[in-house]
Amino acid sequence: MQLTDAECAMRDGAQGDAVAAAMDLLIRYGEALDADRLIETDNVAGAFNASTPSVRPIAERGMAEVFSKLNLDSDKTLDIPHMAARTCQLITGIDDQNWALQGADPQMIEMQRKNEAFIGKRGINLFATCTPYQVGNVPTFGEHCAWMESSAVIYCNGALGGRTNVEGKESTGAAALTGRIPYWGYHLTENRFGNRHVRVDVPVNTMMDWGLLGYFTGEQVEEAIPVIEGQIGHTDLIKLKHFGAAAASSGGVEMYHIPGRTPEARTPDEAFGPRRAEASFVYDAAARKAVYEMLQTATDPKVDFIMLGCPHNSIEQVGRIAHMLDGKRLHPDVQMWVHTPRAIRDVAVRSGYVTLIEAAGGQVMSDTCPAISRRIPEGVRVIATDSAKQAHYLPAIAKVQGWFGSLEACIEAGLTGTWKGDF
Ligand code: F3S
Repeated sequence: MQLTDAECAMRDGAQGDAVAAAMDLLIRYGEALDADRLIETDNVAGAFNASTPSVRPIAERGMAEVFSKLNLDSDKTLDIPHMAARTCQLITGIDDQNWALQGADPQMIEMQRKNEAFIGKRGINLFATCTPYQVGNVPTFGEHCAWMESSAVIYCNGALGGRTNVEGKESTGAAALTGRIPYWGYHLTENRFGNRHVRVDVPVNTMMDWGLLGYFTGEQVEEAIPVIEGQIGHTDLIKLKHFGAAAASSGGVEMYHIPGRTPEARTPDEAFGPRRAEASFVYDAAARKAVYEMLQTATDPKVDFIMLGCPHNSIEQVGRIAHMLDGKRLHPDVQMWVHTPRAIRDVAVRSGYVTLIEAAGGQVMSDTCPAISRRIPEGVRVIATDSAKQAHYLPAIAKVQGWFGSLEACIEAGLTGTWKGDF
């Protein structure tokens, strides 16, 4: 791999042992990927967490060892300096405010806080969300990033035209300390053109429609790059967020084009570039119904937990939920968790939304989600969610039955305790 003089100096220790270890890791990683060189990045979103029981024995010896081991893959405890690149923390395992509600151990939250103090001091912005693009990290068109989290990566590439592969804890740790990442995969223009075609023959308008289309797309194209055309209504942050999260869950989609809507292609020709569609798929009313049915893993209509906010809710979504619950009361057998980034929760408090949701019996949670934390209220048997991604993962993780549907269907289930669904 070709290195610049500055990269050679980092490798040789000019900026200390931690940066040298980070550069050594990136060189080995890049060579394994057949990358010719590294690319500069000033936008890293990673997981610098100490919030799981398995980390505890390491954390007890100090947070430098946690970072060295988990984010730099080093057996030596290194002196961790300030990050070189703009870096943010993705979702964590524990809600800093509502940890007791999650049933978390007080020692775990103590450990998470110590770790946050350690990484915050070194310049990692503690967004603690899977949606950094909702709270201040919006990559610009063509910006080279080093992001983890599949729903964030597909949003960065597809919706924003930023450039990232799905990175890991170690590569984001090394990128944060060096401002470099291997130049391969979605960083290269030639790898960003479409190679599958999806024709949409049924109207796609609501958030649920977008989740269903995303789930269908991922199922069909797996890890390829779909170009999507047809009866597509209005697009916005919320809809593309749900589309991408679903496509990255049912398949491994990391990049897509909706010509005329997403930034890298005004036309199908631009979307395919020198490539062609190696396979075509039709999303029609029958396909939509099949995907909807696939996402239902429940048979019992008695619901006892509603999860809203996967990926984390925007402020508009929290406001809408508050408005729908205004003056109402959840069924006594039902608990509702509404997940959003902490920064958005603060706005929701100020806007009165949290008061309305809590008055109805719900909770507004931050920093984590049930699929990541693996925590739901004790005794829950049947969940309902408006997220195709959460419907895909949570029933298996939490060993519960799961219903998927629109926000309206979830709110109705919350108020009545009974799932009626959307079909
Ligand atoms: Fe985010 Fe958790 Fe969903 S990480 S995308 S809320 S599974």
